[in-house]
Amino acid sequence: MEQKPANRIQDYLVFGEFGGVNPSITDSSTFTFLTSEKMSEIFEHEIEGCYLYSRHMNPMNSFLSDALALLENTPAAHVFASGMGAISCATLQLCSHGEEIVSSRTVYGGTFALFQNIFPNLNIKCRFVDITNLKEVEAAISPKTKVIYCESMSNPMLEIADLHGLRKLADKYGCKLVVDNTFTPMVITPYNHGAHVVIHSLTKYINGASDTVGGVVCADKEFISALKDVNTGYSMLLGPTMDSLRAAGILKNMRTLHVRMAQHSKNAAYIASQLEELGLKVIYPGLKSHPDHELMTSLLNPGYGFSGMVTLDVKSDDIAAKLLPMMQDNLVGYFAVSLGFYKTLFSSPSHSTSSEIPEEVRDSIGMTGSIIRFSFGLDFDIERTYDRIKQCMKEVGLI
Ligand SMILES: Cc1ncc(COP(=O)(O)O)c(C=O)c1O
Repeated sequence: MEQKPANRIQDYLVFGEFGGVNPSITDSSTFTFLTSEKMSEIFEHEIEGCYLYSRHMNPMNSFLSDALALLENTPAAHVFASGMGAISCATLQLCSHGEEIVSSRTVYGGTFALFQNIFPNLNIKCRFVDITNLKEVEAAISPKTKVIYCESMSNPMLEIADLHGLRKLADKYGCKLVVDNTFTPMVITPYNHGAHVVIHSLTKYINGASDTVGGVVCADKEFISALKDVNTGYSMLLGPTMDSLRAAGILKNMRTLHVRMAQHSKNAAYIASQLEELGLKVIYPGLKSHPDHELMTSLLNPGYGFSGMVTLDVKSDDIAAKLLPMMQDNLVGYFAVSLGFYKTLFSSPSHSTSSEIPEEVRDSIGMTGSIIRFSFGLDFDIERTYDRIKQCMKEVGLI
């Protein structure tokens, strides 16, 4: 198997009708059968190249799923209407009434809220831990634990999960390691380092255009078939189905992911090192000062850098509140949640995407109101962007 994710995607060919260079979009919710035997058979098991109904699968969604399986080097994948659709279905498929999840406490706020507020209603308990502390992870595992859940690079504190260490624990206690790789597509391939299941919010880097939401679960064929099972599959029965027109757009955007990731990373690395030189508290795993720099280096696929996310402490809530709109006014990018866009996005996680995490947990990991998260865009002239950021910082009295 080709080792480089960019090469695997480059070599993935799907022709459209009449020899189109892109696959033809299938604009049908249901599909015809020529014999009743075939229709009965597909309710029993999947048949390659045969489609029943779009909530189960359709050709365009299966092309995108195949491309994402190549990205993550997994035997199979299945796309969803959103990242949360993918996270909720994958974890519910693995964990049922009376069972438990051990999750990193620094996960996306929506994931935290799902595990903390919704799953207890189903009698699924979640214990939140410092995922960088393997002893603490192990202590939280009980005979009921089915899933160890983390983000390869955590949101927004940019901690790196020791995937090999977590997989050893998963094997020791018979659990599955589920990894959200939204912050580091191409950069890290978690399946190569022990993850059983890899999830993405496609909304972010993979689509890269901030024009749709989407999600994917990448895993072995057995797990992906289980998600789609007509009687017991959470994807099939909860129904967070991606629209095939959207799938066509995301597949086209994926073709440029390797170039975009390298540029996002280059820009983030430049700004992170400049801000550090100014004496500011910068979190970027590409910096030698980051506690997980060595670990992340050991997990990287060469050529795509350390991703485009930078977290910065601007010393006070008040400065953050002034700086964010000012940077937008001065054309640094957009004051908006989300990430992976071609333009730079910045926001205050504790007041937005991580506000679901209780204040005491946020405080314990240093995610205070003075923390700003940047997702650096594809700026051609990043020195110019840096000058603009510096000017704003001077105006608010940060430097
Ligand atoms: C790391 C991470 N995982 C999952 C999600 C959820 O994805 P979606 O918004 O596509 O449902 C997000 C959204 O911000 C995220 O940042």
